[in-house]
Amino acid sequence: MKFFIDTANISEIKEIEAWGILDGVTTNPSLIAKEKDVVFEEVIEEIASIVDGPISAEVTAEDAEGMIAEGRKLAAIHENVVVKVPMNEEGLKAIRVLEGEGIPTNCTLIFSENQALLALAAGASFISPFLGRLDDIGHDGMELVRGIVSIMDLYGYEAEVIAASIRHPLHVKKAAEAGAHIATVPYKVFHQMLKHPLTDKGIAQFNKDFEGTKRVNG
Ligand code: E4P
Repeated sequence: MKFFIDTANISEIKEIEAWGILDGVTTNPSLIAKEKDVVFEEVIEEIASIVDGPISAEVTAEDAEGMIAEGRKLAAIHENVVVKVPMNEEGLKAIRVLEGEGIPTNCTLIFSENQALLALAAGASFISPFLGRLDDIGHDGMELVRGIVSIMDLYGYEAEVIAASIRHPLHVKKAAEAGAHIATVPYKVFHQMLKHPLTDKGIAQFNKDFEGTKRVNG
């Protein structure tokens, strides 16, 4: 499974990129708005200069024509930009046109297998089921990921599933088991995934035991 980071915060992106495990970035209008006094297009350009992989930038127009125009402009920022398009009638039309022009799209706000099927039929390169938001209303978000992945396997779709709206490390583990191609992970969850008390204890013990051991260069 590949890892994207789900943020528009440059220092978070730089920090996790330095771990050497990052394959891409997803942003959305709320994440962009959290970064005060920034220009959307400039943030996307800066992210693309840090991470060499797909960078999702979302359209905010509500009609297909507007989404397509916005998508073209976003795609012109950098060759790695993926245009994030919402799952609705207008979004489907926009996905078809943008993909036809060779502009990759990420169909976002997917909450059912049927929505995923429509996004796949429109030709989306990525589809994003939102786990956490389904869990929030008492549904099982992971069941949706499993369902989408098994349908895609059955028909040989080449799009990639991005497990999105991830809230904790268990979501990441379960998304991997469910066969999601990508998990888009918040900064905090990357740190939670990294830590284990036995690892920290083990490092401290090894270093303590090794103290005073002679080395070749001092
Ligand atoms: C995905 O691309 C979205 O940006 C994100 O995962 C939404 O997460 P949230 O439900 O925590 O806002």
